Amino acid sequence: MVCRKIVTLFIFAGTVLAGMSLPGIVPPAGALTFEENREVALEITRLFRSARAVISKHQKHINDPNESDKGLSPEKVIEEAKVNYKTVSGKEFRLEAGTTLKGLGQLAMLNAIREVMTNAQPLINERGRGFKGFLPAVFARLVADSFNRLMKRRAYIKLTAPRRYIRNRSNRPDKWEHNVIENSFKNAEYIKDKPFMEEARHRGRAAFRLMIPEYYNKTCLGCHGEPRGERDITGGKKEGGKLGELGGAISFAIYN
Ligand code: HEC
Repeated sequence: MVCRKIVTLFIFAGTVLAGMSLPGIVPPAGALTFEENREVALEITRLFRSARAVISKHQKHINDPNESDKGLSPEKVIEEAKVNYKTVSGKEFRLEAGTTLKGLGQLAMLNAIREVMTNAQPLINERGRGFKGFLPAVFARLVADSFNRLMKRRAYIKLTAPRRYIRNRSNRPDKWEHNVIENSFKNAEYIKDKPFMEEARHRGRAAFRLMIPEYYNKTCLGCHGEPRGERDITGGKKEGGKLGELGGAISFAIYN
């Protein structure tokens, strides 16, 4: 009797734990075509950028030292991210079944956003503190770390930049990313905003890889602009970047 109770308890704990990780039967690695991989990569990066845009939009609010509850809960950020997603894609965000890589990736991205925003609550709601260092790029790095952990080496996301513009070493481009940035994105003939994709290796494994270029706009230049070397509000050194210049890139990989 006691024994059965213990077994039941274990099954219950196991179910709870399983519920916290990602459910579903994932298609075997390498099962997707180039086109299907492209679709998954574009979907997940779109969701990622839509969520980051929520942080940009609320930056002033986040930096406000007077208000303690910013109302920027995990669910609020996700709700606004879905609105941004619709604006850029023209369609409603629709969560696919967790049995597909797309569904699994969507869920991992939503859970990564939830995790980061849950952990950020004490910081962003801290009274009496203005600038808190909670920036879109920081949010993006934390979400990427969480996503990569949740995807358990099935897929990978990262915000990177041209080598000489890198602030946080963990965002440094790898060799493939560096080549895409220097040889394609910086090529005058390269079509603006166009994603670059290729079968290539990532961390020693064969993968479908995709990169999306991003450019400095006016709001970026307060930190990344001129004069080069001057300290910005974060205490970091400005890069000397110019309006419209390539400032970074989103990198995505799906392992074969
Ligand atoms: C308030 C200052 C500030 C503003 C405004 C800002 N950034 Fe940043 N940016 C930073 C800091 C600080 C980091 C390092 C973040 C980290 O620790 O990962 C960073 C990191 C990045 C990175 C990741 C690569 C790296 O250098 O580590 C990219 C790409 C980037 N910023 C692009 C942009 C773009 C594009 C904009 C405008 C849309 C922008 N930033 C606006 C301060 C800023």
